[in-house]
Amino acid sequence: MAGEPENEPDEPTATRRIADDAESSRASRGWWDRNADEYQEEHGGFLGDDRFIWGPEGLDEAEAGLLGPADGLKGLDALEVGAGAAQCSRWLAAQGARPVALDISHRQLRHALRIDTEARTAGPGPIALVQADATALPFRDASFDLACSAYGAIPFVADPVRVMREVHRVLRPGARWVFSVTHPIRWAFPDEPGPEGLSVAASYFDRTPYVEQDETGRAVYVEHHRTLGDRVRDVVAGGFRLLDLVEPEWPAWNDQEWGGWSPLRGNLIPGTAIFVCERG
Ligand SMILES: C[S@@+](CC[C@H](N)C(=O)[O-])C[C@H]1O[C@@H](n2cnc3c(N)ncnc32)[C@H](O)[C@@H]1O
Repeated sequence: MAGEPENEPDEPTATRRIADDAESSRASRGWWDRNADEYQEEHGGFLGDDRFIWGPEGLDEAEAGLLGPADGLKGLDALEVGAGAAQCSRWLAAQGARPVALDISHRQLRHALRIDTEARTAGPGPIALVQADATALPFRDASFDLACSAYGAIPFVADPVRVMREVHRVLRPGARWVFSVTHPIRWAFPDEPGPEGLSVAASYFDRTPYVEQDETGRAVYVEHHRTLGDRVRDVVAGGFRLLDLVEPEWPAWNDQEWGGWSPLRGNLIPGTAIFVCERG
């Protein structure tokens, strides 16, 4: 996540600079392939193999109902964008939906396969997995009744309107599209869980991407910043109606630190923004 660049010897250099679609996708694919094992090791327990957790606050779709009532999910064709190990898709399948879990990272999808293999005896069966870029969805028009994403793809793409338009294209009229991203206000603060993460250190209005690059200047990790207003305009430009914007509060039970997310900061500033949209 963004904040003040911190450079260490032999580490990629952190900076703020432009990164286009192609460079961002290439960086994401490489970064998530290299870091999937560590990510799943560190966060897999919190996410749960078959729970739908919207972000580090721990908001659970089983309680939030942002996709609509759980009993209304049965029989729906659902697309999870930037699915990682497909935990959310597994929850959708348990509700009787027919999910497809899409991710750019082969290694993340290997973890989805691993979880499904380990759980072979229980549950509704393996999740359909597709390796692809969210900016070019390999599906026919109007193939899905629902799309969702918990921090998948959208924070990492240079042109989120492309993703919105693609999701719009593959959804059927009236379908819901719900996605979570880092709350835009976080970009104004250092990405630190402690008190040092509570003082504004950068302009909220600076949209320059956060980039980690190797010694040749090649991006190895990219995150893109949009303001809250930008995100609303992206949704509308994609052809969606915005039904709700949810800013989960930090719950008392959650004592986890996850990068810059922590109880200290979570009690003071929002960490996640969830956009609940409907296809026109
Ligand atoms: C923070 S993880 C979220 C995954 C899952 N929802 C979770 O909570 O673990 C972000 C995921 O987005 C995927 N991703 C990044 N850029 C993408 C893109 N352009 N297209 C598809 N997936 C992408 C990454 O590979 C990664 O699995």
